[in-house]
Amino acid sequence: MAKAAPASVKKEIEELREKLRYHEYRYYVLDDPEISDAAYDRMMNRLKELETAHPELVTPDSLTVRVGGAPREGFSTVRHARPMLSLDNAFSFDALREWDRRVREGSGQEKIEYIAEHKFDGLSISLQFEDGVLARGVTRGDGATGEDVTPNVKTIRSIPLRADTAVLKKVKLPADFEVRGEVMMTKKAFEALNREQERIGGKIFVNARNSAAGAVRVLDPSITAARRLDFFAYYLLVDGKVRFAKHSESLQALKQLRFRASDDWKLCAGIEAVIAYCEDWDAKREKLAYEIDGVVIKVNSVAIQNELGYTAKAPRWATAFKYPARQETTVVNDIIVQVGRTGTLTPVAVLEPVQVGGVTVSRSTLHNMDEIERLGLQIGDTVLIERAGEVIPHVLKVVKEGKNRKPFRMPRHCPECGSTIHHVEGEVAYRCVNAACPAKRKESILHFAGRHAMNIDGLGDKIVDQLVDKGLVKDVADLYALKESEVAGLERMAEKSAQNLLEEIEASKKNSLARLIYALGIQFVGERTAQLLAEHFSSLEELAAGKEEELEEVPEVGPKVAASIVEFFSEPANCQLIKKLRKAGVHPTAEKRVVKSQKLAGKSFVFTGSLANRSREEAGELVIRI
Ligand code: IVH
Repeated sequence: MAKAAPASVKKEIEELREKLRYHEYRYYVLDDPEISDAAYDRMMNRLKELETAHPELVTPDSLTVRVGGAPREGFSTVRHARPMLSLDNAFSFDALREWDRRVREGSGQEKIEYIAEHKFDGLSISLQFEDGVLARGVTRGDGATGEDVTPNVKTIRSIPLRADTAVLKKVKLPADFEVRGEVMMTKKAFEALNREQERIGGKIFVNARNSAAGAVRVLDPSITAARRLDFFAYYLLVDGKVRFAKHSESLQALKQLRFRASDDWKLCAGIEAVIAYCEDWDAKREKLAYEIDGVVIKVNSVAIQNELGYTAKAPRWATAFKYPARQETTVVNDIIVQVGRTGTLTPVAVLEPVQVGGVTVSRSTLHNMDEIERLGLQIGDTVLIERAGEVIPHVLKVVKEGKNRKPFRMPRHCPECGSTIHHVEGEVAYRCVNAACPAKRKESILHFAGRHAMNIDGLGDKIVDQLVDKGLVKDVADLYALKESEVAGLERMAEKSAQNLLEEIEASKKNSLARLIYALGIQFVGERTAQLLAEHFSSLEELAAGKEEELEEVPEVGPKVAASIVEFFSEPANCQLIKKLRKAGVHPTAEKRVVKSQKLAGKSFVFTGSLANRSREEAGELVIRI
């Protein structure tokens, strides 16, 4: 018999969900958080705790689904209520004028009101809401049927899991509706992903679109959750039909329903205004947080849309103006090597400077030796490069082999400190393992302070550069010994912000063990592995003493990761660092251990009367932990 949840628990769960929904919206949709990550995590952990204790209270729209569930066997297919069509393309302004002429002719109107909006470069998804709750997420597939990727899309934080009843009423929308839009990765998230992939010696993604698309179409939703995806909504349907008289009203309703929809769409009185919008955004798109590859133009009046109808492939009432790809050919004059935070060597192509979309490009990352081999690249070759947004350009292919081409070899010694480079046969990465290599210092401090690590706000690269260059900080533990006078003396550091920074550093001492483990930057230990390790070991010391066999007991930790952890803690300099951190007062709060025992499985517990030392909830937690 399952213990019925007391009303107080139900109330707490509902309040937590309401709060989390609001803060998620502030953070992921508005980009304007009101609370710290730590405060958010505390609420989420409390909700998880309560839901574990009362599984009967778990609902499909609870925010705990954001972390992803168990992997699935395969995808089922779903037929779209209305086909998900593609769009015809226009590659020039003249082609746009031609399309406008056809629209005017087809509708018998002299002038047409258009909506111009960003063409998001991602993967299109249909979200089906039933009774106000997100019931299904489906890929476009062949347009008529797509794959059911519901658990995956539920991990995307800018997708609301339910619609507010009052808002539905206000915008006059029934509780069953469909939202279409694009799953994307911001430029920042994409760069962070590739940095992490480089660090762990994993696959490097060529562009944000591919990595977003790949992350949606995986069977394990926890992979989708880790990829930090976004969703931009642009189409709203009820029973396969547009609900409003104008497309602009759909966009406004989507916003009110708390979807992330671009603010940058524009009502254009005719095609010339559309062209001005395209020109304007070609110049400005560099600065956007995400990638756009063009502009989508739609007839605003839904009545005219219906009159114009569809061809077999695309609507006649919409078209896509595509920006030219930012590609150029140039010569690779040299290949040099950079040493990253974890000591990974990254080959970089030194290019004959070339203008790509208005920017002079003279460097391009080659990621690793495998990539150089895949490209068949040698020094002296002519290559095709592509620049997408502010992302560092990458080499697409070799277009002409150089006359006196020279193969590139990884150096045997670190270009920064001269120590021997390590390379494990069969692995991608070449590494400098000298813990004291100066190349790693700044990067490891930045990683330690990062938002997903110790979250020390205000400790950015400009400050770290000065702290290291002035000799104030040699390792991350030195951060905790900084004095106000030292920090206030740094460039661009007002007294108030010096104080703020020291407060942030102080507050970071109380971070979770998972954050601290991740912050150490152990090779192959990403955020998720750090979390799993923290659930298994109750302190850093316990983790440091863990043998490979014990480490491998932790879910998802295989021999490679276990060996890397053992290697990290066998390095005396690293053990010193941990002692120094502890001495500085860095005492992470231990996570709760995963329930392992079956002793109490299937039993019900009822606490009656008054409890002397703890609340009923705490007593319940104790039982769960056994
Ligand atoms: S509307 C029937 N609006 O581009 C109209 N599509 O190349 C359907 N896309 O399949 C699409 N941004 O995946 C629309 N603002 C936007 C868009 C957009 C990107 C995608 C969409 C479409 C593809 C066509």
